[in-house]
Amino acid sequence: MLGAGTAKPRELVEAALIEFFASRTEQVAELGDRYVTAVRELTEFVLRGGKRVRPAFAWTAWLGAGGNSTSDGAASIVRACSALELVQACALIHDDIIDASVTRRGFPTVHVAFADRHRSANWSGSSERFGESAAILLGDLALCWADDMLRESGIDDAAAARVSPVWSAMRTEVLGGQLLDIEAEAGLDETIDAAMRVNRYKTAAYTVERPLQIGAVLADAAPDLTAAYRSFGTDIGLAFQLRDDLLGVFGDPGVTGKPSGDDIREGKRTVLMAVGMKLADRDSPVSARTLRSTLGTIDLSEDRIADVRSILCDIGAVADVERRIEDLTDRALETLAESATEPGAAAQLRAMAIAATQRTY
Ligand code: IPE
Ligand code: MG
Ligand code: MG
Repeated sequence: MLGAGTAKPRELVEAALIEFFASRTEQVAELGDRYVTAVRELTEFVLRGGKRVRPAFAWTAWLGAGGNSTSDGAASIVRACSALELVQACALIHDDIIDASVTRRGFPTVHVAFADRHRSANWSGSSERFGESAAILLGDLALCWADDMLRESGIDDAAAARVSPVWSAMRTEVLGGQLLDIEAEAGLDETIDAAMRVNRYKTAAYTVERPLQIGAVLADAAPDLTAAYRSFGTDIGLAFQLRDDLLGVFGDPGVTGKPSGDDIREGKRTVLMAVGMKLADRDSPVSARTLRSTLGTIDLSEDRIADVRSILCDIGAVADVERRIEDLTDRALETLAESATEPGAAAQLRAMAIAATQRTY
């Protein structure tokens, strides 16, 4: 474990994850080499990339609520916060199956990697199904290990009791958000409200609001500060997802690690698309038809993607979403500035909020 006083959150989190994986080595080895190899895939998936956004929010919230990074208990807090990365590993591995995504963090997704392994080794049965089955199991393992890592973090019983309901709510919300997301994709609801609700639970609660609340309750923060964090977190989380929606259509694959235009091919019901369809229904039925017919079409040429991009710009959907991002970010930063967050941590949260929501395409 690195000294929590000097290292950056990201280094602390990665060191804690390495330490946790090491704690499981022996037990995994008991089941033999094949399990060791499969678990190595999970370990590499977790360790080779990711911005560690959730643990960083939780850790910084803890500091902002009076936590001391040089105190004896700091290493336990790092471990508790880092457990969020294992929830995220599960969420991403399963999400990539759900979305049939082939690339994640610049590498083949876990189900694709296992399908490739099956195919090249000439094992029997369907390679795709094998890949998905293996990825379901490794995702489950990551989620179980997230709980283990939190429970074994070393936080005291009172802190564990305070974290428990927040941790539970976060898991319930993210899975609900994912479910609402696939229902929206299935065409059950194409309103802006429905897309916003998905963002609220799939992203805002899970990525920012709950991690901040976890940091707050670990520090036994005053209710006012916790409430301010949650409000800030919801707004920044929504703005972050709206930025992600824009990047999904206009982003540079070199920056995002995901092919640009994939959101359109996949038929993702983003707020950007919901706004686009609403404006197009009002102003340009031809554009509305183009949007609806391209959304969810796997074999889309670059030209048709370019058409969608032009429509979203011309119809005013991009400007609308940019405005929403700006309003949410302004409100969040105001909430943060008025809160009792310790100034050093407040400056960090502010910088993180801006980094998560600013334009990078
Ligand atoms: C992933 O959602 C969100 C979670 C795993 C909870 P998306 O499907 O919208 O995101 P990407 O584009 O695959 O990362
Ligand atoms: Mg996805
Ligand atoms: Mg998804």
